[in-house]
Amino acid sequence: MKKLVDFNIEENIAVGAGCFLLKLHTDEQLPEILPGQFVNVMIEDAGVLLRRPISIHYADAKKGILELLVKIAGKGTEKLSHIAKGENINILIPLGMEFTMPAKEDNVLLVGGGVGIAPLYYFAKVMCDNGIKPTLLIGTRSAGDIILKEKFSQVADLYYTTEDGSYGEKGYPTQHSVLLNNFDKIYTCGPTPMMKGIAAYANKKGIFCEVSLENKMACGIGACLCCVQDTKEGHKCVCTTGPVFNINDLKWQN
Ligand SMILES: Cc1cc2nc3c(=O)[nH]c(=O)nc-3n(C[C@H](O)[C@H](O)[C@H](O)COP(=O)(O)OP(=O)(O)OC[C@H]3O[C@@H](n4cnc5c(N)ncnc54)[C@H](O)[C@@H]3O)c2cc1C
Ligand code: FES
Repeated sequence: MKKLVDFNIEENIAVGAGCFLLKLHTDEQLPEILPGQFVNVMIEDAGVLLRRPISIHYADAKKGILELLVKIAGKGTEKLSHIAKGENINILIPLGMEFTMPAKEDNVLLVGGGVGIAPLYYFAKVMCDNGIKPTLLIGTRSAGDIILKEKFSQVADLYYTTEDGSYGEKGYPTQHSVLLNNFDKIYTCGPTPMMKGIAAYANKKGIFCEVSLENKMACGIGACLCCVQDTKEGHKCVCTTGPVFNINDLKWQN
């Protein structure tokens, strides 16, 4: 059940590539928070009226802990990047549908591009807690865009592609040699062309695949219809039906 919660900023850490990690805490009781869900953040004094949708990078509802990994994109996220320890922010939490949890015996591949890696940390952490160590393939432009490598390596076997070849394999995630392995389930979040490439790969091989869409949003609760996605079952609100979709429900292969 979603609720509005005031969180206190415990840390706001610049982690590189224009991204920052917000570590938040609340004494309020939090509802269950699942990997793949997102929050809607109120950003005050930034001239932005609408809350901003941000993925849940990590959460521990029992301890009142929430972490957000944010890339500066415009006015709202720029303002958020300067929020200081001790300040409060109001957050609508949790929103949307979660990733489907794989079975213990599944060989799982996560593919992230840019700040699309944000929800994959919490997902990988929960999987590890359940005895599944996923493979995580991350695509960036160059070595300088790689962030939180140490943190991600604790919850996944990590592989990288860089477009300029400065780290890992040169090219895009869709070209990485790890895709030669056999996977039972693939989950991806990042730029749409990358997700479409991974979805095409999964479709060709008949592998279960979920993608996390980042359509432009406003209300986050299915009321304004500004986030609709054309699916095989008609137009669906990404904020309530998604952001996680099975590729078989999308029209990407048509
Ligand atoms: C489900 C979901 C999860 C997301 N998770 C993350 C995350 O974990 N970390 C992260 O850094 N970003 C995430 N985003 C993107 C983030 O919401 C936008 O970057 C942010 O809203 C931009 O706000 P702004 O005021 O800084 O930029 P603006 O000045 O408003 O715009 C800058 C750019 O951001 C896009 N944008 C603006 N408002 C929205 C909006 N409401 N929804 C989507 N895009 C928007 C604009 O089209 C423009 O290209 C997510 C988006 C969605 C839909
Ligand atoms: S953001 Fe309003 S309906 Fe999805």
